[in-house]
Amino acid sequence: MDAIQIEGGARLEGDIRVSGSKNAALPILASSLLTAGSSTFHNVPALNDIRTMCRLLELLGASAEFPIKKGKTADRHVVRLTTKAIKDTTAPYELVKTMRASVLVLGPLVARHGQARVSLPGGCAIGARPIDQHLKGLEAMGAKIQLEHGYVVARAKRLRGARLVCDIPTVTGTENLMMAATLARGHSTIENAAREPEVEELARVLNKMGARVRGAGTPVIDVDGVDELHPIEHAIIPDRIEAGTFMVAAALTRGNVLVRDCLPEHLDAVIAKLRSAGATVTAESGGVRVRGPATIQPVDITTQPFPGFPTDMQAQFMVLATRARGQSVITETIFENRYMHVQELARMGADIMIDGRLAVIRGVPRLTGAPVMATDLRASASLILAGLVADGRTEVLRVYHLDRGYERIEKKLRPLGARIKRVKGRM
Ligand code: EPU
Repeated sequence: MDAIQIEGGARLEGDIRVSGSKNAALPILASSLLTAGSSTFHNVPALNDIRTMCRLLELLGASAEFPIKKGKTADRHVVRLTTKAIKDTTAPYELVKTMRASVLVLGPLVARHGQARVSLPGGCAIGARPIDQHLKGLEAMGAKIQLEHGYVVARAKRLRGARLVCDIPTVTGTENLMMAATLARGHSTIENAAREPEVEELARVLNKMGARVRGAGTPVIDVDGVDELHPIEHAIIPDRIEAGTFMVAAALTRGNVLVRDCLPEHLDAVIAKLRSAGATVTAESGGVRVRGPATIQPVDITTQPFPGFPTDMQAQFMVLATRARGQSVITETIFENRYMHVQELARMGADIMIDGRLAVIRGVPRLTGAPVMATDLRASASLILAGLVADGRTEVLRVYHLDRGYERIEKKLRPLGARIKRVKGRM
């Protein structure tokens, strides 16, 4: 397995481009199951999770072209999906266990094909992550749900519109129910819906396909069911978490970086905390410029559903806090076990105390490079950030997780002056 090797201490300077959003692309690719024909999606990030979703859609009977070949070259960011006939309705354990977002085929399969058999995802490195809200919603729409041999089997001749009240705002749950409701008979309301930009983006895509969705981006989403949807062409929004990660890299290294092609309105909470940490953040044509402060100020953060501070940026801000002058407190409210990076950061010299969902971080004058590894995506990104400011060499092992969510991060950071490279064949 590859590792990422970093020699710390470089100040980052220059422009960096943000890729398309992974968490927007995954439900959008799954939504192609609601149509018959060929849809083309642009600005899709070239990531392992996208490949996994394409593989799953192929198992179900779709044909997936990714990347699209153009003569001798290939466009790495275009996916064409043709979903003429569905030959299977099973999302197997082998795929679901590598990517929980596989559960996003559940809603579309029941809605258009009357049945779905999806492996229960099981526990995950960052928390239990049940899917009870997805199932409760489908049941309210008339689906019969059974658990068989580790699989959820959902059946419905045709779903019917219903009032769906989520106990908690769940991102993929809202997406599954919104997709299911587009082809249900009658009107559905999703209350306490997740408001993340990725939910709004999916609604845009569904409406392009001919669906009638209103209110996405607010806690109440209304969907009038239609009889069929048609294939489309669409370019995916930029990845706000990749953008946020680059912004922290700039602040942390006292750099001066223009983060290109991001949408600042998706990053309000992140930008506010960067400013509290002392960074200068300015909107410019083409992106957002971040200048790091001479002295990083401590920041207190509580993760929240959007528009609050995203849990997917918690680990990266913790690294910023390790270099602050003073004490920061982070409260993780979304996932119960999302502090997997703490022990590794401690090995690099960070001073962090965990008490349940609370982390108290006392800034230290220096971190030191070390071999480290992480068991989830954002934790891996935080170790890369720590490596950028640590003295000496850091080797981030098991980059499998990183590659699920960051497109060639080392190639993107190197032109900014980072001394970072991929090394093959480490443990
Ligand atoms: N939850 C339930 N029951 C459910 C669904 C969720 O109890 O039926 C709980 C979860 O256990 C968690 C909370 O609700 O405590 C919120 O989870 P949510 O369902 O919103 O998370 P998700 O949809 O599984 C998406 C992203 C995650 C991101 C979270 C939170 C995708 C594919 N994944 O997950 O992204 O952390 O929302 O914003 O959109 C990542 O990209 O690294 C990542 C983990």
